[in-house]
Amino acid sequence: MNPLILSDEQYKTVFGRIMRLSLDYLASVGERPSFPQVTGSETRALLSNQLPEIGIGASALDELPPVIDGGRPSSPRFFGYVFGSGEPVAAAADLLASVLNQNVTAWRSSPSAVTMEQIVVGWLAQAIGCDGFSGSLTGGGSAANLMGLAMAREARLPANQSGARPGIVYASEQVHMSIPKAVALLGIGRDYLRYIPCDDDFRVRTDILRAEIERDVEAGTTPIAIVGSAGTVATGSIDPLSELAELAREFGAWFHIDGAYGALAAIAEPASFAGLNQADSLSLDPHKWLYQPLDCGCLLYRSPADARRAFSHTGDYAKSLVEDPIESFAYFEESIELSRRFRALKLWLSLRYHGLEKFREAIRNDLRHAQLLAHLVAAESELELMAPVKLSAVCFRFLRPEGHGVEADGLNQKILQRVLRRGKVYLSNASIQGKFSLRACFVNHRTTPDDVEQVIAEVLAVGRELATGAES
Ligand SMILES: Cc1ncc(COP(=O)(O)O)c(C=O)c1O
Repeated sequence: MNPLILSDEQYKTVFGRIMRLSLDYLASVGERPSFPQVTGSETRALLSNQLPEIGIGASALDELPPVIDGGRPSSPRFFGYVFGSGEPVAAAADLLASVLNQNVTAWRSSPSAVTMEQIVVGWLAQAIGCDGFSGSLTGGGSAANLMGLAMAREARLPANQSGARPGIVYASEQVHMSIPKAVALLGIGRDYLRYIPCDDDFRVRTDILRAEIERDVEAGTTPIAIVGSAGTVATGSIDPLSELAELAREFGAWFHIDGAYGALAAIAEPASFAGLNQADSLSLDPHKWLYQPLDCGCLLYRSPADARRAFSHTGDYAKSLVEDPIESFAYFEESIELSRRFRALKLWLSLRYHGLEKFREAIRNDLRHAQLLAHLVAAESELELMAPVKLSAVCFRFLRPEGHGVEADGLNQKILQRVLRRGKVYLSNASIQGKFSLRACFVNHRTTPDDVEQVIAEVLAVGRELATGAES
């Protein structure tokens, strides 16, 4: 008997229990606290950490409920970071993807899964006005940004053959941390990343950018890439993408857009994203604003040849022996990854099930919820809006009462910690012009206007408590 094979009955028990746990979880998501009330040592104590030499069979499933209870719930009142809410039809497809265990690396490994990924990537491109772009699904926006900049480096300052030479990457000072990480990992060197200041709307200043590029070109260095943000992580600002595209063309630089947070909102608000389709490469994150369960990022690019220049290092053992362009296709020649998960299945099923129109409406709801919160903040004399709300991130803070000695940053840090502990809403924070701010980001298909109002109620209740010294 093969050691890991179970009977049909045993499989039924495992899958049935998993299904029941999943459905119970979905039924209770609305009532769960926005963050579990556990300490670090309690999470350690949740699980047996003994290497299980002898298995315990289906009893292992009994250990799962505490893991569920100790995790971040897909709560309608979770507004931290940029965190998608996990659409359940997609999650069901993800289970099937694991059961099928397709390796989506080349057409010959998995004909229908590779074809499905090509189709959904085409759908994503079309949905945001980038028809004709190709690309691939990735583990997230960070991986997509790394791949986009690897393509840029290889296109403008080839290093695969003879090593890296100095060249410059330009991005705004609001750019996401995955860009400096990519610049460092690619050996471009973080000293060669120029952070360009922003205007009052947190959009990159193109006049300063131009001056910097001219200075660098004069000094004999090559501009590798300009990175534009379609939704900065702190405030959701959208850089002037068309102007950046023009500058990139003028100076022969690659134009990469980090759209991990915002680009998918072009499905609902295309006018805010003019210039998206002028990118050479563009990252977007269906596991954020298309509510897909982790993981599901995407890199789109204009030319597959650019991707192959960066990523094709095919060994003899993997060379395709067929001529047919469809059947000889291999993602491993256009991506960092070789073995690849069947990410397209969840995206395909949830898009086919709901249709793009429903996703557009959900994104519009998020945008409306952000405007509602901004409006409620503006209406409260004890609160201050810290940045314009362009997408779905709202940065604000509690104002100290007149004559109150507590320092504002410290007070708002305490408010955040206490709000999180109370478990009614989950917020994160951002530094806006050096000031500590509370931040709510709406990429949550479960949220209602009542949930948005809870944010105000919680921050005011806790802020007043702390500011009056009722509790410290
Ligand atoms: C603007 C931006 N870029 C990139 C990323 C990284 O995406 P991921 O977490 O999928 O790697 C994020 C994540 O929040 C982001 O907001």
